[in-house]
Amino acid sequence: MTSALLRVLAGERIDPPPVWLMRQAGRYLPEYRALRAQARGFLDFCFRPDLASEATLQPLRRFDLDAAILFSDILVVPHGLGAKVWFVEGEGPRLEPIGDAPALRRLSAAGIGERLAPVYEAAARVRAQLDPKKALIGFAGGPWTVACYMVEGAGSRDFAAAKSLMWRDGALFDELITLLTEATIEHVDAQIAAGVDCIQLFDSWSGVLPEREFERYVIEPTAKIRAALRLRGRATPLIGFPRGAGQHAARYARQAGLEAVSLDSTVGARSLAEIDQTTAVQGLLDPILLLVGGERMRAAIGAQIGLLRERRHVFNLGHGVLPQTPPDHVADLVAAVKGWRGG
Ligand code: CP3
Repeated sequence: MTSALLRVLAGERIDPPPVWLMRQAGRYLPEYRALRAQARGFLDFCFRPDLASEATLQPLRRFDLDAAILFSDILVVPHGLGAKVWFVEGEGPRLEPIGDAPALRRLSAAGIGERLAPVYEAAARVRAQLDPKKALIGFAGGPWTVACYMVEGAGSRDFAAAKSLMWRDGALFDELITLLTEATIEHVDAQIAAGVDCIQLFDSWSGVLPEREFERYVIEPTAKIRAALRLRGRATPLIGFPRGAGQHAARYARQAGLEAVSLDSTVGARSLAEIDQTTAVQGLLDPILLLVGGERMRAAIGAQIGLLRERRHVFNLGHGVLPQTPPDHVADLVAAVKGWRGG
């Protein structure tokens, strides 16, 4: 029997909905922190198939989730292109910034398969160990979001450097987006070859773009990634996460031809109504409600399932599980979703 998540992505409506959580593996789990201590840096951790496959499986040992998400990061793609990427403990990612043509032209998508081979090895190991009724989700960042980190050299509040390059030197910025689109196609295709069942594209910073640029740097690359996969004979379903861009979500899903769209916690009934019924809907629950837990969280879970009961729904959060989340609250969330019996 195929997993409930894949059935929803293929067109079924299931009551109660399948459930998985963004960042379901991570620092809120003590067993993750213990595993993490075995690697030098975060990227070393991602590139150790023994550790990455174990981190992927940890949340499924504790909770009755319907899917595992491969333990990796969206910033392995710049590494695969030959850019320097590292993580500063307690601060976040750092990258050698790409601001001019010589820096960009030193990068190449040709080495992706080899440089990121440990990621695919981790995926194959997980698929071999995972219950066949559970889906394995592979992922990549959206080209715009990864470009933001590459141009800024770190996270940012306003993405001033990325937007400045986009508007000052459109040709160079287009070259970067094209390179990332190609790299993403290779990276996703290799994950599928290794056994992942579906793909999520995280466009975490799509919400900072005006409409025209959203179309050009979020919708178009996403549509290209999908078209390239189909051309290679991959029928693998795609979930897109245009975080912060709820008002464009319907057009994004339709024009990119996605099986599902993942929505952040600000999206309400009005934006939902615009999304085609042929597109499954995922996400929404505020990660802070998971932190709060208890009756307030359970009421919000019931309200969300009720709101989406006529649609194809994959239960998830509007963004990732926060490190300070009590694991018991995750167990309560899964029980509340699985135990939902209408109302
Ligand atoms: O469980 C899962 O969801 C799978 C693993 C996963 C990670 N990162 C592991 C991780 C996934 C899907 C991601 C995606 C990711 N990475 C995104 C898109 C989703 C989002 O959150 O918007 C982004 C923007 C990144 C880049 C990134 N990686 C940042 C900004 C940080 C630092 C912030 C932080 O939480 O520390 C990371 C590090 C990271 N990636 C951690 C984990 C578990 C924490 C690092 C650690 O354990 O030391």
